[in-house]
Amino acid sequence: MPVITNIEDLRRIYERRVPRMFYDYAETGSWTEQTFRDNSSDFADIRLRQRVAVDMTGRSTASQMIGQDVAMPVALAPVGLTGMQCADGEIKAARAAAAFGVPFTLSTLSICSIEDVAEHSPAPFWFQVYTLKDDDFMRRLFERARAANCSAIVITLDLQIGGQRHKDIKNGLSAPPKLTAKSVANMMTKWRWGMGMLGTKRRFFGNVIGHAKGVSDPGSLTSWTQEAFDHALDWDRVRQLIEMWGGKVILKGILDAEDAKMAARVGADAIVVSNHGGRQLDGALSSIRVLPEIMDAVGDDIEVHLDSGIRSGQDVLKALALGAKGTMIGRAFVYGLGAMGQQGVTTALEVIHKELDTTMALCGEKNVANLGRHNLLVPRNFGGDWV
Ligand SMILES: Cc1cc2nc3c(=O)[nH]c(=O)nc-3n(C[C@H](O)[C@H](O)[C@H](O)COP(=O)(O)O)c2cc1C
Repeated sequence: MPVITNIEDLRRIYERRVPRMFYDYAETGSWTEQTFRDNSSDFADIRLRQRVAVDMTGRSTASQMIGQDVAMPVALAPVGLTGMQCADGEIKAARAAAAFGVPFTLSTLSICSIEDVAEHSPAPFWFQVYTLKDDDFMRRLFERARAANCSAIVITLDLQIGGQRHKDIKNGLSAPPKLTAKSVANMMTKWRWGMGMLGTKRRFFGNVIGHAKGVSDPGSLTSWTQEAFDHALDWDRVRQLIEMWGGKVILKGILDAEDAKMAARVGADAIVVSNHGGRQLDGALSSIRVLPEIMDAVGDDIEVHLDSGIRSGQDVLKALALGAKGTMIGRAFVYGLGAMGQQGVTTALEVIHKELDTTMALCGEKNVANLGRHNLLVPRNFGGDWV
């Protein structure tokens, strides 16, 4: 049993155990990957203010996200094809999140369907939707999410059109994977992953196949995704979707103060400051760098969450100290899942929780709610002097 002390340990095991096609799918950004890299290095530019001789007994990371109690303000982000990183991946991740007491978000482009995850996970989860042209399909998705008792929907706004990731094209990424001589040779070396996949029926996009018009088999899915995304999306449509759902709504993919204000105006409950983990607009600023400006713009008008680049509890603390009420992790939990299944996701959450708790203590704080700008040392022009 390997000794895991940090998220990077999980990433290394994940890289060994999962076929290259799916490792590359997760561990890449769009085009030059500048934004993907900045997401991590910008967190590192912020330092922490150490305090001593402060009573650190009775600490708590417990908090709330959109009014729901959480053991720590860290949700699992929606990640497409999670069930290809590990057999039944969405169910395993949802179970780990439920046991830990944090929200799990199911992607529209998951392998396990909404109904399947609801049946096999003990807690309500959040459901992420892409904005699609087909109103009937959107309505049915919402009905299915309601029937599955999903406690919020997350509408992703930064993927009206897909960013290009070179490796996915070169690897011929698909679900189920294309069997070329090269991919088969690579998969033969991943016996643990292969045994899991042979033992499950869940290998296709469970929310789409058999539900979207004209998509009855995996072969028709590629053309569906190219056609289905709504290039005409605007704030009126966002407002319509919020009304269509009628429950808690989180708008994901906000990276600009003006858009954050619009999100508050259309009546969303929260936003996720996010650049999709550096997978969409390469050259955009990192989420952590734009967070202060967004906080200045919306204040308490809307709850603010942040993702993109979080790999540790220190990163979570920095986001909270800059004003976010919650955070999301994408790759950090995928590494755990690909490395060790459900136990790996639990380990990822434990690592981040321990880091958050210890860092909080060494900063002289007992409660995540008290974290603030006073806990950080931020370079004077961190926001940048952009014109
Ligand atoms: C492999 C992968 C697949 C993703 N799929 C989706 C998706 O289906 N829907 C979505 O809204 N975001 C998706 N995202 C973005 C994540 O929800 C999240 O914004 C991002 O992973 C955060 O960055 P991090 O991975 O550095 O934590 C995906 C991210 C990754 C890495």
